[in-house]
Amino acid sequence: MPPLRRSTRPARWLRRTRASSSSTRRAMRRPTRTPDSAGRAPSPPATVPSPFMNAETLAIYPGSFDPLTNGHVDIIQRGSRLFDRIVVGILLNVEKAPLFTVAERVDIAREVFAEYPNVEVDTFDGLLVEYARRKGAGVIVRGLRAISDFEYEMQMALMNRHLNPEVETVFMMPAETYTYVSSRLVKEVAALGGSITTLVPTIVEDRLRDKKRAGGKS
Ligand code: PNS
Repeated sequence: MPPLRRSTRPARWLRRTRASSSSTRRAMRRPTRTPDSAGRAPSPPATVPSPFMNAETLAIYPGSFDPLTNGHVDIIQRGSRLFDRIVVGILLNVEKAPLFTVAERVDIAREVFAEYPNVEVDTFDGLLVEYARRKGAGVIVRGLRAISDFEYEMQMALMNRHLNPEVETVFMMPAETYTYVSSRLVKEVAALGGSITTLVPTIVEDRLRDKKRAGGKS
């Protein structure tokens, strides 16, 4: 895992979008043009309005993060460059039996992203789109590692769109080195004594080792 780099500036394309946003707004305010005297249809406005034009773009990256892997870290780093702010939303899921408590998972993510001013770590329960509405987020970020993720992710994205069409799901691909990494496999490998050094942040490796020593599930 390369060292975490502090990211304070949004991506270049986003800065360009913002720079052009006042002209975009002007274009949108123009009155509807009527056909000319020869009956020709008016040409469309030169600029297509951008969904990012109005305010800062807040994205939510939801998940269980039990535990955070380098694949998650990679997506969050990419998201922090793409959006003004990204909230890592850890699900308070009473039905699953997690290895790490929610407090531990929050702790880990906060430590890993301590140097990222535009990454927030939070928890939520209930509907994700309701949480997004409460936070004022217009984007849900999900990672897509392989085709096998696609069906489940598409179902979720379309269900979330059905529940709130104003929230857009954005899929991001992690670096190919992490396409086989999942929290479930990391826990299994750690429990059986395999190396997970390159697959998770150091703090996660340490905490998994502590849990194994303490006689927990790993
Ligand atoms: O890391 P995971 O476990 O794949 O994350 C799944 C998560 C948390 C994104 C999903 O279970 C979720 O959004 N739960 C909140 C409940 C909800 O909104 N359900 C309807 C969405 S289809």
